Amino acid sequence: MTGLSPLPSDEALGGGMLAALAGMPDPVGNAFADRFEQDLAARFTGRAAVAVSSGTTALHAALSAVGVGPGDEVLVPALTVVMTAAPVVQLGATPVFVDSDPDTLDVDYADAAAKVTARTKAIVPVHLWGRMGDLYGLRAFADGRGLAVVEDAAQAMGSSRAGVPAGTAGTAGCFSMKDGKILWSGEGGFLLTTDPALAAHARAFRSHWLTPPPGSRPQEQLAVNGRLAEPLAALAQANLRRFPSLLERRRTQTERVLRALAGARGLTPLRPAADEEWNHYAPLLRISLPRPRAFAEHLAHQGVPSSTGSFRLIPCDTRPPFTATTQAAPCRGAAEILDRTLALVLTERDDEAVLDRYAAAITREAASWGA
Ligand SMILES: Cc1ncc(COP(=O)(O)O)c(C=O)c1O
Repeated sequence: MTGLSPLPSDEALGGGMLAALAGMPDPVGNAFADRFEQDLAARFTGRAAVAVSSGTTALHAALSAVGVGPGDEVLVPALTVVMTAAPVVQLGATPVFVDSDPDTLDVDYADAAAKVTARTKAIVPVHLWGRMGDLYGLRAFADGRGLAVVEDAAQAMGSSRAGVPAGTAGTAGCFSMKDGKILWSGEGGFLLTTDPALAAHARAFRSHWLTPPPGSRPQEQLAVNGRLAEPLAALAQANLRRFPSLLERRRTQTERVLRALAGARGLTPLRPAADEEWNHYAPLLRISLPRPRAFAEHLAHQGVPSSTGSFRLIPCDTRPPFTATTQAAPCRGAAEILDRTLALVLTERDDEAVLDRYAAAITREAASWGA
């Protein structure tokens, strides 16, 4: 059995951060972010990368760059966190929630097609838990209707489908580097695009439309401060350089838990599609026990963290900011997926003892879980 790849020393991770701190205050303030973007561009050939302060900001900048604005509608899977939909609202547009297929976790394109109107501008496929849907289906749907595709690849760094890496299938791909993500910098994010105009828009957007050099152009628009802080850019760059070992560590962690749970009562692993290269973001199990969501919550009380048990993930269309305005029927496929999926929350620091404790607790509690 292969063991977990080792954690880096604090010195190895902190060196770049100390260098960034030593250069502060820096009036231009993007030397490390620039280098991080260059490393991303080298990894994702043919794409420009724009580093930002969070995955939410990446989505905000990308949706702004594809022209989403007041009066527009954007198709968003209900199977997601609120951060996917919030930027749509901040731009004055309306998220229209679409359902997902419980068998594949992919967008339910029949439901999406029924919800397209003359005001639909874009679709935001979300690769939740690193799982990617069928990209041929996505392209056929979006291209045929002239929709921009802004991928929420916040959890999907390292995944690909039919050889296409997450974040490179659409008009723009958006990533989060919040701690817990496989590529992390504490807080942070970035977007990828092949479109130079989109990248230029995102660069201006993240910095209050202050396009460099300072004072060279009037600030044509209002935007946000969504820059990636320099010490975090240094950390992101260090982690990007060791990304293969980060990815390998997460794969080993997830496989260890799933292997230990083989035969556990009422729990079946969710396996990726045949053409899917999954980043193993989270051990995923279908719960066929009575009251599955209550089971996940019970596990959280036993110290086993999961998306639904600990973070109470519910379909986005049922969250209070949207229930007042949403007229459509609830997205039942998304609800079924979230009620029945145990998605464990892992971090890089989880070692074999932690993983084995999770598996033992799940096996024990599943065996005695009653109706
Ligand atoms: C699927 C998804 N979308 C968007 C986000 C937002 O990213 P951030 O927290 O970096 O703003 C997250 C973060 O957890 C996420 O998991």
